[in-house]
Amino acid sequence: MVNLDNIIGIFTGRKSLYVGVDIGTSGVKVCKLKESKASFKVIGFGKVEYEESYIVGTEIIDFVSLSSKIKEAIETIIPKEKSIAMHVPLALCFYTVISASPSENPEDVALEHIQGIISEEDIDKVVVKYQMLPVSISKERIDIAIAAVKKDILEEYVALAENAGFEVKVIDIEPAALNNQFFLNHPDKMIEPVCLVDIGATFTKIVISFGGCPYLIRNIEIGSNVITEQLQKEYLISYQEAETLKFGNDIDVVSYEKAFDEVISKIVKKIATEIIWAIDNFKDRFEYDVEEVFLYGGGAKQKNLLSLLKTYTNKKLEIGEPFSFAGVVENTEHAVACGLSLRYKGDENAKV
Ligand SMILES: Nc1ncnc2c1ncn2[C@@H]1O[C@H](COP(=O)(O)OP(=O)(O)OP(=O)(O)O)[C@@H](O)[C@H]1O
Ligand SMILES: [Mg+2]
Repeated sequence: MVNLDNIIGIFTGRKSLYVGVDIGTSGVKVCKLKESKASFKVIGFGKVEYEESYIVGTEIIDFVSLSSKIKEAIETIIPKEKSIAMHVPLALCFYTVISASPSENPEDVALEHIQGIISEEDIDKVVVKYQMLPVSISKERIDIAIAAVKKDILEEYVALAENAGFEVKVIDIEPAALNNQFFLNHPDKMIEPVCLVDIGATFTKIVISFGGCPYLIRNIEIGSNVITEQLQKEYLISYQEAETLKFGNDIDVVSYEKAFDEVISKIVKKIATEIIWAIDNFKDRFEYDVEEVFLYGGGAKQKNLLSLLKTYTNKKLEIGEPFSFAGVVENTEHAVACGLSLRYKGDENAKV
């Protein structure tokens, strides 16, 4: 039986932290932190990229190669560690927060909500967890988080790690990992909602958090790979040339500035539209404006993206730094691994 307790991490006291392993669609990122005297230190982190696609969209297409990459990544970045925390991609999670009256029983409210969205025959195939949040947006109400993940997905991720010789101690949902690393770095941002955007290789993940907890999530099927593909198509160039261009360099047929205006800006606009949509949706549901947006993922490093996204969204935007608590910067792509590495012994919630 899989247990997804403590999906929303609140961390106090001293703990033995697990190695965070982010299995992304472009590579594996690994991170290990240490907690000492109520502050955190970075023991190590790094990324090993795949030579080929082992995951297409949400589907693992080469289980054996992926598993051996996970082994290689952990053994080279944080050797001798066996206990890991990993995540289920946001695209494969259901997550919502509902508000109820304090006089209602949270369990009844959560069950009723779940029954409204998952049919009786599917309920056995899904692991559902709910938790009353330590905060609520409206003082007169209580907020309850509900998370659901299909059992076969959890089993596949656990099998991947076990096949590589590791013991999965915790499985988080990706929005919780992003959220937890954010509040590690910005404990002062509890009182206003914030929007976290992770632009990965395949997907852009949007999480709106409040008071230390995720409230709204959204997955967009646009990532940095789309930029490479569009550049190839538009300028009839090779994959390698498109990658050189994407990384901010001029190539023979076109300058970066021109390619940014003609191709990349259109993709940035689509991402901006989705961010605005998520923020509007949050406002409709919780009557609260979101003013600040933090960008994560390798795609956030795209040259000139930040200023254009600011223009399109009209929000206060900045590049998020998962290790700013330790004074280490320019590692946007390690947000999920960092969030996972906050998981500790006693915080276990995945046992299949
Ligand atoms: N400086 C840069 N400029 C533009 N793109 C970059 C830069 N650095 C990394 N990228 C792109 O970021 C992507 C990798 O980011 P990341 O590691 O966050 O993805 P991922 O976690 O594997 O993907 P996903 O979360 O979608 O599964 C790649 O497409 C890479 O080309
Ligand atoms: Mg990612």
